[in-house]
Amino acid sequence: MPKALSESPFVNPHNCARIKSVEEKILEIQKNYLEKIQKAQNLKELDEVFLTLFGKNGEITLLPKAFPKLSEDERRKVGPLFNQIKQELERAVEARRNEVREEGYKNLVNENLDLTNVKLRNRGGHLHLTTQFKKEIIDLFSKLGFYQFDAPHVEWDKYNFEYLNIPKDHPSRDMWDTLYVDTTNLEVEPGQMLLRTHTSNFWPRLMEKGQTPIRAMSFDRCFRYEAVDARHSHTFNQFEVAVVGENITMANLKFLSDYLLQAILGKEAKSRFRPKYYPFVEPGVGIDCLCVFCHGKGCKICSGTGWFEIAGAGMIHPNTFKFTWLDPKKYSGLAWGFGPDRMLMIKHGIEDIRHFLEGDLKFLEKY
Ligand code: DAH
Repeated sequence: MPKALSESPFVNPHNCARIKSVEEKILEIQKNYLEKIQKAQNLKELDEVFLTLFGKNGEITLLPKAFPKLSEDERRKVGPLFNQIKQELERAVEARRNEVREEGYKNLVNENLDLTNVKLRNRGGHLHLTTQFKKEIIDLFSKLGFYQFDAPHVEWDKYNFEYLNIPKDHPSRDMWDTLYVDTTNLEVEPGQMLLRTHTSNFWPRLMEKGQTPIRAMSFDRCFRYEAVDARHSHTFNQFEVAVVGENITMANLKFLSDYLLQAILGKEAKSRFRPKYYPFVEPGVGIDCLCVFCHGKGCKICSGTGWFEIAGAGMIHPNTFKFTWLDPKKYSGLAWGFGPDRMLMIKHGIEDIRHFLEGDLKFLEKY
């Protein structure tokens, strides 16, 4: 058997004697998936097919891992074929997505909206669950003297990354899958403008002004280039606080974490700190919250660990002071970024993050 083939990762588990070449595998994916895409009846099914192809462990995503093992001749043949079929599948998903949408619109025409229905007539509007939660948390921290400071969603690279001790081309940028704004028609260098990946962009903006003390908060939207599924969304919320002044310590961080958790989940809630790396804090911590369902014993909901990860935090890194008028020998600071969507999912047993953005009346009416 030729060497390249014997090393091929595509072994058929049912019949090890038959080993597929990469080319065969690509053609097989093309055939199977074009069919699956056509069969998808709604956007959800289509998203699932998309993920099994292009998600982190998707068939198309993983396929190029086999390329280094091929001979040069094979690579020359397989490379263009792979690109062609990848594009074909992307186009097929897009086309089917449009078809499914169109079918949905046609169905709307046949749907009858009975305006004499008493239940419908009496239904008033109310604040979205996320907005209710935002108000609750903003009130809670206003009591501690925090003021709200929201930074732009479309942000400069420097506030989202560079001033946060994440230089250009630094590998730590990989921690954030970033959506960049196409600035071709603007007088802006490519790569300078992006959709902010976290709310952490607000505090370099405040620190830059050089006024202390800072005791600020932001509950706002962030954006990432994510493959969407039940736990990941391209658009999500963060609640972030930053405190800069004299004698700010980790003890303040611990107090704020327990203050928040107990207000939301009840007196029994408590936090735990784990060492964790974030470029803009030193030391950095991951904050876990004791599982409210099993009180730390370990259950299905906390995957047996007894804890949920809910925030990243730490003491603001001295390097981030370089971009400000503030002297890190005199001042210190803490920053803390928390995931409200996840917290709401835990609190209300919401199993899919997509509900927050979809506007489905059944979901909206429930909360
Ligand atoms: N910005 C981080 C993220 O989105 C979360 C975070 C970590 C915020 C540590 C912080 C912090 O303020 O100190 O992944």
